[in-house]
Amino acid sequence: MAIPDMSAARPLADRFGRQVTYLRLSVTDRCDLRCRYCMAEKMEFLPRREVLSLEEMRDIAEAFIARGVRRIRLTGGEPLVRRGVTGLARMIGRHLESGMLDELTMTTNATRLADHAAELADSGIRRVNVSLDTRHAETFRHITRWGDLDRTLEGIAAARAAGLRVKINMVALRGLNDSEIVPMMRWCASEGHDLTLIETMPLGQVEGDRQDRYLPLDAVQRELEDRFTLIPLIERTGGPARYWRIEELGLRLGLITPLTNNFCAGCNRVRVTASGKIYMCLGHDDHLDLKSALRTGGREALDGLLDEAMALKPERHQFAIHAAEPAVKRHMSVTGG
Ligand code: 5AD
Ligand code: SF4
Repeated sequence: MAIPDMSAARPLADRFGRQVTYLRLSVTDRCDLRCRYCMAEKMEFLPRREVLSLEEMRDIAEAFIARGVRRIRLTGGEPLVRRGVTGLARMIGRHLESGMLDELTMTTNATRLADHAAELADSGIRRVNVSLDTRHAETFRHITRWGDLDRTLEGIAAARAAGLRVKINMVALRGLNDSEIVPMMRWCASEGHDLTLIETMPLGQVEGDRQDRYLPLDAVQRELEDRFTLIPLIERTGGPARYWRIEELGLRLGLITPLTNNFCAGCNRVRVTASGKIYMCLGHDDHLDLKSALRTGGREALDGLLDEAMALKPERHQFAIHAAEPAVKRHMSVTGG
């Protein structure tokens, strides 16, 4: 699908004056791990016929690019369990060369990164976000339910060898990995990775103990400030993280604090699921069906729906960790991280 002249395109702006320039596109809701804070052990995934084809995903990505989206993140579930996803990266990556797109990234658990890192680098991806909550094999197995730490570490090493920059995502979990935050910072610094700590968010029903595991990052930040020099960085990557430079380690540290420090005012993103639903906010159930618009009305219908989506984008999420029910019923793996 050709991209029309940008000067003719209407940018995607919402009612609160925020412009959407960042798309998170989930290529599958499936995953080969079952991280406890993210998924239930027995998950029901989308029937395959509901899932968009890679060409449809490309068309949707291009519709967004034509409306001023400058950054795209491929996410999941685990994007690398979707066959052909590197081909999709390549199709979208073309728009990096033409200057229509500034950045294409991927969030991955790295289990299959060793096989795909080189292809990803070749598609134009420069940076991957890898979920790694612990570097202890047993804790890793516990959190992911059946993951193998060595395999993930090999995936990370392969990414670096292929020339990709790595940002480690670590969900802060009280009693599971809180004592590992500083060692993880040191490891990331020595390996040359960035590190982002994330507060666990109430998305989807999981077994057990999300509330007990919740670790507010404002307290972590204060503890870090007692031990290290944190220099705030103004630079943003288009995501919700705030960044610091840890002087003593030479580390770039990000904090994603949906619960202790709301970042919605600067929100520039929307999410599209593998079944073609657009969610205007991770913390709301409102969505529109881009797939049926695309299938029945083509690009024009899709464009019209993007305008509707902008009119519906809510001002902020309403996450509360101690509520009886999760804020939204869908899991992170549906809309993607
Ligand atoms: N809260 C916070 N982070 C989550 N992730 C998945 N589910 C949740 C949740 N409920 C993380 C993953 C990944 C990132 C995309 O989101 O660990 O690093
Ligand atoms: Fe934007 Fe919703 Fe995320 Fe808040 S929670 S930053 S409104 S997408």
